[in-house]
Amino acid sequence: MSGEIVFRPMKESDLAKAARIEALSSPDAWSEKAFRDALLSPDTLYAVAEQDGCVVGCCGLWRFLEEADICNVAVLSSCRRQGIGTGMLRYLMEWGRRQGVRRFTLEVRKGNLAAVGLYEKLGFVVEGKRRDFYQNPRDDALILWKRS
Ligand SMILES: CC(C)(COP(=O)(O)OP(=O)(O)OC[C@H]1O[C@@H](n2cnc3c(N)ncnc32)[C@H](O)[C@@H]1OP(=O)(O)O)[C@@H](O)C(=O)NCCC(=O)NCCS
Repeated sequence: MSGEIVFRPMKESDLAKAARIEALSSPDAWSEKAFRDALLSPDTLYAVAEQDGCVVGCCGLWRFLEEADICNVAVLSSCRRQGIGTGMLRYLMEWGRRQGVRRFTLEVRKGNLAAVGLYEKLGFVVEGKRRDFYQNPRDDALILWKRS
């Protein structure tokens, strides 16, 4: 795939593809039903990245007043290291800011160096740690914040 990358809100018709990308990307993947329930919530924003007409990435946020939890960040493995994760999260956070979000947080496995690198590049800072929070494989959770 080499065409233009478009970032847009997730639609009902994207749910199966988003769940598939997550299942291929994460040991803690959500089901299609969990994505559908999230999309229906008034407190969420979900976005996808599309390249050559195909969904190649997804991410979401849950809003609580001026704070938002970012989750379900995944890019199709064949499309990584092209800036899609960066572009998708910038799009999602800009959308969130327009809805009044001022502080973004997320949790990530300490050993997930790709994701930690992505978040730090976007200005997230590690502010906490939950020891052995994840299982299969066991890992600490890092808690990151971006305040803007
Ligand atoms: C994490 C993930 C979303 C990154 O997506 P991506 O589209 O490849 O990210 P980008 O191309 O925008 O990369 C941005 C930066 O992240 C860091 N990064 C990305 N992949 C990396 C890797 N494999 N190793 C080290 N750093 C990496 C780099 O700093 C990179 O900047 P650079 O390319 O200028 O060096 C992707 O690897 C993925 O889907 N992983 C599996 C799912 C996952 O772990 N999600 C996060 C759960 S919290």
